[in-house]
Amino acid sequence: MSRMSQIKTKHRLERGLHRVRSRTFSLTDSLTDDDLHKQFDPLMSPLVWDMGHIANFEEFWLLRELAGRKAQDPARDAMYNPFDNPRGVRGELPLLNRLEAAEYLTEVRHDVDIVLRDTDIVDGSPLAKGGYVFEMTIQHEAQHQETILQALNLRPDLVPYPLAGARRLPERRVVDDTERVRIDGGPFSMGTDDRASAYDNERPTHQVHVGAFEIDRFPVTNRRYAAFIEADGYSRSDLWTSDGWRWRTTVDHEAPQGWRADRQGAWTQLVFGRARTLDPDEPVIHISFWEAEAFANFDGGRLPTEAEWEKAAALDPVTGLTRKYPWGSTAPTREHANIGQQGWGPAPVGSYPLGASAYGVEQLLGDVYEWTSSRFLPYPGYTTFPYPEYSEVFFEDENFRVLRGASWATSSSVARSTFRNWDYRRRRQIMAGIRLAWDIA
Ligand code: AVJ
Ligand code: FE
Repeated sequence: MSRMSQIKTKHRLERGLHRVRSRTFSLTDSLTDDDLHKQFDPLMSPLVWDMGHIANFEEFWLLRELAGRKAQDPARDAMYNPFDNPRGVRGELPLLNRLEAAEYLTEVRHDVDIVLRDTDIVDGSPLAKGGYVFEMTIQHEAQHQETILQALNLRPDLVPYPLAGARRLPERRVVDDTERVRIDGGPFSMGTDDRASAYDNERPTHQVHVGAFEIDRFPVTNRRYAAFIEADGYSRSDLWTSDGWRWRTTVDHEAPQGWRADRQGAWTQLVFGRARTLDPDEPVIHISFWEAEAFANFDGGRLPTEAEWEKAAALDPVTGLTRKYPWGSTAPTREHANIGQQGWGPAPVGSYPLGASAYGVEQLLGDVYEWTSSRFLPYPGYTTFPYPEYSEVFFEDENFRVLRGASWATSSSVARSTFRNWDYRRRRQIMAGIRLAWDIA
């Protein structure tokens, strides 16, 4: 990296840190103390925990591990350690209140700005190289904004977001939501060797052979999913795997999270406490892996593996090279994908022709994460960096499944073709949907 590009990279990181922070504050500022302190659902943290945890993570990585400073208050490490305190108990911790958490965020950031200026991101430590640990901190905060939005979306009452009614989406284009794209069989280079912004679990690149398959051009729409409900999909055990059916019989869900049938039998969807008429052209969102799998059986397809998903998203079959984003290497704009929290929900299918992959598959990034059939496992040659608690400790648990893509709530710092998300198969509060694959006979 030259001196010039070091300056440019630092400017980019400075802007990234600033942008993600102003978003954290704009998400929390309009909420009352009660909104922030109360644990509305045992599945999610009280939002002040996320605020304190964001500050503690940044203090740990940028002030202590990178810059060698002493801990501000060691008691905070224990309180904001996600492993010591699972979500269910976070409401009972003596958490910093909103004012204290905001102060903690701001004080740490004040010092971080100085550390960034003084850090050698060319010949410095492995953490500093290419600005990695700053990039990791930006993405960490952005990912916690997604959990904040998941928590708020579980509330039955109206969330006081002035923007929640004002969706900023491009014009819709009429498409056939059952269209499929053929992906020829053959090898591709999966993953990345990027050490500046990708997580350890996305590395290294490795050749994977993927047989020919078809994939939905668009994410599965509410229209297609409603047909599964109307066909009694939630009561037909033959459509579910035995584990899926066990989940189905222990919960009373008969539709995606937030769906309510009105008196005329039409569906509405609760979005941040506001009832919206269900848009049949929008991707289905807030379903568990088990529901995705049962829907696939109903529709005659299957969930893609993550290798299939990434090939459809990243490979340019003409050059044989892979792309950082489905559309190429240019950073996402509002014409490419519904990311960055401006959509307040998924956009109708067909809204993003410019975001298509080389194969013509659309809306791979944005709108909804997509469940795959793959367990969360290390790639061949994986090495943990910089800490086992981001990825490694999750590899062992066979209850996780990988989700690919990005949701409407994902920041552009996180959205890329190689990004791997994962969660428990029962989780519905995440912004997840479906895209089916089909074997070619
Ligand atoms: C990658 C979304 C599974 O939320 O547990 C946040 C992201 N890691 N803090 C999660 C994360 C550490 C992670 N997921
Ligand atoms: Fe975290």
